[in-house]
Amino acid sequence: MYPSNTPQSQPDRPKKITVFDIRAAKAEGRPITMSTAYDALFGALMDEAGIEVVLVGDSVGMTTLGMDSTVPVTMDEMLHHVRAVRRGCRHALVVGDLPFMSFNVSIEEAIRNAGRLVKEAGADCVKLEGGAHFAPTVAAIVKAGIPVQGHIGLLPQTAAAGGGFKVQGKTLEAVGELIADARALEAAGAFSIILEAVPAEVGAKVAQAVSIPVIGVGAGPHVDGQCVVMHDLLGLYDAFTPKFAKVYAKLRPLIVGALSEFRDEILDQSFPGPEHSYKMPKDAAERLKDL
Ligand code: KIV
Repeated sequence: MYPSNTPQSQPDRPKKITVFDIRAAKAEGRPITMSTAYDALFGALMDEAGIEVVLVGDSVGMTTLGMDSTVPVTMDEMLHHVRAVRRGCRHALVVGDLPFMSFNVSIEEAIRNAGRLVKEAGADCVKLEGGAHFAPTVAAIVKAGIPVQGHIGLLPQTAAAGGGFKVQGKTLEAVGELIADARALEAAGAFSIILEAVPAEVGAKVAQAVSIPVIGVGAGPHVDGQCVVMHDLLGLYDAFTPKFAKVYAKLRPLIVGALSEFRDEILDQSFPGPEHSYKMPKDAAERLKDL
């Protein structure tokens, strides 16, 4: 007997991506594809499109839950959304994001919360924001048997303390710190690192400094993979689109257009037409007239 999601038990289903595949991609020179999803529908669409890594990011707070930042997102909210994405994704590696203050207070709490994302919600691995300072936390989670993805550069959870949402690594000293952070995360056992909002030259330097994949979110083309938040690449989030996010489809006006047309047709009574209405059998319809 094989577990139900193995290729042996379901030969027509593509192979499940593992952290080993993601690590191997760097050695093989194959760029890693990554985006975000927050529910089963978009998890399944990511799978269908062949995106290898699907992050259930704490960006859910802004894209989906109407928050102004990622700071208020709770563990319970993350568990809810990771569970949903897990149901949709059969192929992609599902990364569960540890929200602000779920890993910062103690290593014990970090292990417990990482464990919840994997055990209760079905994440394949977890991600946490922070560099060398959090290396002991990363090492402890990895030791507990949970693969960890690091996240350095712009850190949205603590951006307020660092002066806001700014491009990072603009001085030689800052670049040195980013390289030290990346090396510390690698030594702690992280299987890959997200590098957010740095100049392209800095992205290249950080990627060269470690043997694990560095996946850029606004880190230029010379890194080992690219991630763009799904709502940005599909043109769904209108509050702000970062410079690095390419918009591949403008779905927001399409959706609003369809909803407005629906509303207009209800008001002018052209919907529902006969093609969207049920009919009674002819004899019953005849008798209904006399009722
Ligand atoms: O929460 C998120 O979506 C992220 C990405 C920007 C990597 O952390």
